[in-house]
Amino acid sequence: MKLGVCYYPEHWDPSLWRDDARRIAELGLSLVRIGEFAWSELEPTPGQLKFGWLDDAVGVLADAGLEVMLGTPTATPPKWLIDTFDDVLAYDRNGRIRSFGSRRHYCFSSETYKAEARRITEALAVRYGPHAAVTHWQTDNEFGCHDTVRSYSPMARRAFRAWLKAKYHTIDQLNEDWGTVFWSQRYRDFSEIELPNQTVTEANPSHWLDFYRFSSDQVIAFHRQQADIIRQYAPEATITHNAMGHFWNFDHFALGTHVDLLTWDSYPLGFLAQSASSDEHKRRFLRQGDPDFAGFHHDLYRACAPFGVIEQQPGPVNWAPYNPAPLPGMVKLWMVETFAHGGKISSVFRWRQAPFAQEQNHAGLLRPDHQPTPAFREVQETHEIISACPEHRTDAEVALVFDYVTVWMSEIQPQGTDWDYPEIAQAWYAALRRRGLNIDIVPPGRDLSAYKLVVIPCLMHVSSDALAAFEKTDAQLLFGPRCGSKTAAGTLPKGLAPDLLRSLIPLTVIRSETVPDGWGTAIKGSGAWTIWRDEVDTELSPTVYDDDGRPVLYTHGRTAMLTALPDTEWLQKLINDAAQKAGLATVNLPGGLRIRRNGDDTYAFNYAPTPTAIPDQLIGSARWIHGEKTLAPGGFAIWRVTKPV
Ligand code: GAL
Repeated sequence: MKLGVCYYPEHWDPSLWRDDARRIAELGLSLVRIGEFAWSELEPTPGQLKFGWLDDAVGVLADAGLEVMLGTPTATPPKWLIDTFDDVLAYDRNGRIRSFGSRRHYCFSSETYKAEARRITEALAVRYGPHAAVTHWQTDNEFGCHDTVRSYSPMARRAFRAWLKAKYHTIDQLNEDWGTVFWSQRYRDFSEIELPNQTVTEANPSHWLDFYRFSSDQVIAFHRQQADIIRQYAPEATITHNAMGHFWNFDHFALGTHVDLLTWDSYPLGFLAQSASSDEHKRRFLRQGDPDFAGFHHDLYRACAPFGVIEQQPGPVNWAPYNPAPLPGMVKLWMVETFAHGGKISSVFRWRQAPFAQEQNHAGLLRPDHQPTPAFREVQETHEIISACPEHRTDAEVALVFDYVTVWMSEIQPQGTDWDYPEIAQAWYAALRRRGLNIDIVPPGRDLSAYKLVVIPCLMHVSSDALAAFEKTDAQLLFGPRCGSKTAAGTLPKGLAPDLLRSLIPLTVIRSETVPDGWGTAIKGSGAWTIWRDEVDTELSPTVYDDDGRPVLYTHGRTAMLTALPDTEWLQKLINDAAQKAGLATVNLPGGLRIRRNGDDTYAFNYAPTPTAIPDQLIGSARWIHGEKTLAPGGFAIWRVTKPV
């Protein structure tokens, strides 16, 4: 795993660069990401490219033996560009034009902007593609950050119509698939179709779903045009993009097929503060972050492509509702955890805190006065620790199927405001991790034959590929409620839910109800169901009833299907039972402790605010590599098992 840092030479006097580069290298870092917001410095006036400063900066970094990840600056089109063209800015859902003055103000459907993005990308690729030190390229920055995947501009409307035409060929087909006979919405031509925002009440859900799919495709296409150009001039370089946490508006599995590496930006404290978790949970993990936040995203993005973290939170950030400092040791823990999950890069955002502009209150490895922050030393220690550990081996025994289309369908028709599919998927992930299991998060349709247990928290549309993968594996299968409840168009399947899954378990969902979170019914000593419940027609006898006698789980061979959404307690029991049936060795981890097995090595991470003992059962006769059996808050340990536990 390479260690790195994000650096902005254009923010500093060039007289500082050489010393910065020397200190970066001395710290054990080998990769420096630069350039991703530098358009107005590279092209201060239209057509007059000013590469001198970037040549010097890359040269200084290269002289220090550092590799460079060069970002294309397309997340920040400069003012002259916005003033020159009137069809670049994105429109928000209320139809308002987004203004210049921050970043990500462009519309993915602007042909003008796409041409400008190609122009600047090509200029950079021609110049720096052949440079030996520029080994990595990042396209743009955080596609979708600040709610920018979906634009409601005239350009988006034009492109959406073309996209629909390419998909449906005839307007009759679209009318049929969307069910436009409802509320008198039949269209005569693709040119009549508007964007689904600003309707009086909800627009047709199939219309929304296609708009979400279209918007996701626009992001991937925008990335691809840059990647193709870079590839031409830098055929050996690693091309990446930086994804975000808790972000679902475009299909990252699709992006993953067009990158060599998918990096992501990990801000565990900022994300916990922003999340919908309870105040008790937020307080307990205030300075550590949610114990499963980083793990979930590592395991998800590892399924998209080789993955890494390009922006690791180094201290207080500036953008969350409140911005605590991490516990001592936490930055190190996060970086080692990236390694334990198979990360190829762990890089910190940013080198030095900027004393000006929007992020002046965001910590870096250095203070604005050039003195080190606590994270500086931790990065150095990380380098020493991981140098002693072997690279990651992929050896997950459990797969969790995650689906972006289910996210979109859930958002479009939640059918109960508490239904939140990404939260459900993360709760299932957390329940598996509490049992010490290694998890791969995979898209529907991916080969599942290597796993012993496959959990599917929800998969609203089951494609024939997804079904084939379920049928082919010998794994135990645990489906959550609402699986197979929609067609690809987002309508109800003809034979009702669970649609194709009926070949795995013979039942039909005949009615569904939703209740507020916490208002479901208890299940004899094992928690309760909550939010969602299906009633089914079947000859199978239920495996579990709720305390009012309603069936909530059915089992058929190796397939188990929940007909109600489990709360945390019941979910934990279900996961335990499923793991046992699958013959998996599990452990009952204390609340804040998480482990990751990597070949013969096991990593344990203490996210709890209190000292935590690692269960003896895990350690067996181990050779200790790092840490102790009782972990301090924010502490971690690594040991090598010489005998199977
Ligand atoms: C990320 C972004 C960076 C910086 C950082 C601050 O979302 O990619 O440019 O803004 O957040 O935490």
